[in-house]
Amino acid sequence: MSYADVYADWKADPEGFWMREAQAIDWDKPPSKALFDEKAPLYEWYSDGLTNTCWNAVDRHVAAGRGSQAAIIHDSPITGLTHKITYVELLQRVSSLAGALKAQGVGKGDRVIIYMPMIPEALEAMLACARLGAIHSVVFGGFAAHELAVRIDDCTPKAIIAASCGLEPDRVVHYKPLVDEAIEQSTHKPDFCVIFQREQEVAKLIPGRDLDWHGFQAGVEPASCEPVEGNHPAYILYTSGTTGQPKGVIRQTAGHMVALNWTMKAVYNVEAGDVFWAASDVGWVVGHSYICYGPLVAGCTTIVFEGKPVGTPDAGTFWRVIEDHRVKSFFTAPTAIRAVKREDPEGKLMGNYDLSSLNVLYLAGERADPDTIEWAGRHLNVPVIDHWWQTETGWAIAANPMGIEPLPVKIGSPSVAMPGYDVQILDEAGHPVKDGELGAIAVKLPLPPGTLPGLWNAEARYRKSYLDHFPGYYETGDAGFKDEDGYLYIMARTDDVINVAGHRLSTGAMEEILAGHADVAECAVIGVSDPLKGQVPMGFLCLNSGCNRTHETVVKECVARVRDQIGPVAAFKQAVVIQRLPKTRSGKILRGTMAKIADGVSFKMPATIDDPAILDEIRDSLSKIGYPKS
Ligand code: COA
Ligand code: AMP
Repeated sequence: MSYADVYADWKADPEGFWMREAQAIDWDKPPSKALFDEKAPLYEWYSDGLTNTCWNAVDRHVAAGRGSQAAIIHDSPITGLTHKITYVELLQRVSSLAGALKAQGVGKGDRVIIYMPMIPEALEAMLACARLGAIHSVVFGGFAAHELAVRIDDCTPKAIIAASCGLEPDRVVHYKPLVDEAIEQSTHKPDFCVIFQREQEVAKLIPGRDLDWHGFQAGVEPASCEPVEGNHPAYILYTSGTTGQPKGVIRQTAGHMVALNWTMKAVYNVEAGDVFWAASDVGWVVGHSYICYGPLVAGCTTIVFEGKPVGTPDAGTFWRVIEDHRVKSFFTAPTAIRAVKREDPEGKLMGNYDLSSLNVLYLAGERADPDTIEWAGRHLNVPVIDHWWQTETGWAIAANPMGIEPLPVKIGSPSVAMPGYDVQILDEAGHPVKDGELGAIAVKLPLPPGTLPGLWNAEARYRKSYLDHFPGYYETGDAGFKDEDGYLYIMARTDDVINVAGHRLSTGAMEEILAGHADVAECAVIGVSDPLKGQVPMGFLCLNSGCNRTHETVVKECVARVRDQIGPVAAFKQAVVIQRLPKTRSGKILRGTMAKIADGVSFKMPATIDDPAILDEIRDSLSKIGYPKS
């Protein structure tokens, strides 16, 4: 069938389409129907079925005779170690861990926070939770204690599973002290913590609260899979919104598996036995969907890569991993390819490796710039496929469905809507605009299986953030247009979210932290263009009158505050002090104008600006720190 046929097939009978796809997973009790729309505009899928994610990701492959196939390959250029775990071994490890968690009282519906680096144990912890019907929430290691504390208070976990440390190329990240500090800061206290001691750093355990990963599994009975309802939350993943309070995206069990399983073949063109590699981190949605659950549910081999695109040890690392493990489909962020291209512009290092196993390079997480796509395609000699999605959707809204029918690539576009998504470009009043016209990108409700049914403990926020603005639609928060062939172009966010090295960050959250500095009267954070990371945050600080400390000191302290409270991942390294923020006469900060000045892009003076002279001051302050960059 062609893509057009598959899409038309879905559109003609969405429920029939998703009931058919649901047959690809194992059920303890199949659902009576696909869509549960009784609470529209809140929708759920497969709610009355019974199933278990861990069974589908692990046990069933062993039962089907794939036990000796590698399920996970841990490739860590940082430690120099590579280690394979077969499906049989994974089953044994996950059952034992789940048994130990169960013995400590973790059961269906309990929340468990996982704070771990790129080691197989992170996936094992996720799968062990799934085995018991516990709801995990993985927190990215680059977040600081404060961010961890915010998540602890929001999802009130019974347990935290952490590693003693993470390894960045230039330093050991001390996870355990961060966990201790977060628990100290949070109001909710977990019953216990499980610590996986890495040999690079053995953490001090707190008696009565902390348990050793291996020790607490000794002598326990392995746990079997607990069947859960199709709408049972599989996990909560926090993502940046417009404020310092992150949004807890809920993923429900059955739709998650059905949708991911469908994408493995349709989008990524891999099947059981193939090696699939997403070079991201388990702390992000890409890591949830395509390091852990997607490849494992589909019976592939997944790679857990603990390294960076460059510097571990060089810009040839990606190609070495592809050769060593015969990777068929490789997925990363455009930033990572830009980093490689910067170090190895001629792509010479690729010539050192046998890349014949590689069929396609997939990019997502941020806008893929044409230069990067062309460079990668030219040197790798495989299709480079941009695809667009979000933490909220969990899988691609738009892609080039390589396993259905490779469509012509239009550079600059993540291609076309996937079955399940009726994507519309709307004007401010909610009317669809003409092809080629820019507007808010929205998806007609209901969203397909595997997408968010709501936010943890925040239904009103869910409705307000996504449903209220355009009734009958899900508002993606992205703006763009569609061409006459239905190809989408994603141009910008419509909110204050920025994208730094493929990481989604809230400028609002940074502003809240800057505003807490005693000398800061008012502030704004915007995203400015960066050749490597796509965007980086830039702060504008207005100081209290009478502040007699040097601007340099205040800026330094502000940079340190953001790093301490959000974490290094925020990459907040630059700020300037100005007299006033540029505003409209009604008091709205002119962020877009500030960003254009920083990027050196021409702009029309906003008619409603209260004091145009302030823009000259901004231009001067920015030029002192090298902006706009040539
Ligand atoms: N734990 C602790 N700290 C972390 C971390 C982790 N898991 N991941 C990143 N950090 C730190 C980094 O060490 C860095 O700290 P620094 O300010 O002391 O240098 C900071 O957070 C910013 O990290 P990052 O954005 O990764 O930048 P970088 O300069 O270390 O590396 C790239 C640049 C391009 C190589 C890197 O951004 C990259 O690999 N990006 C790929 C993006 C990606 O996979 N995104 C996932 C979505 S698909
Ligand atoms: P996250 O939730 O972290 O995955 O970030 C999702 C956001 O990243 C989207 O809403 C977009 O703004 C941006 N994004 C992701 N993929 C793409 C893409 N292929 N092209 C353009 N923007 C993208």
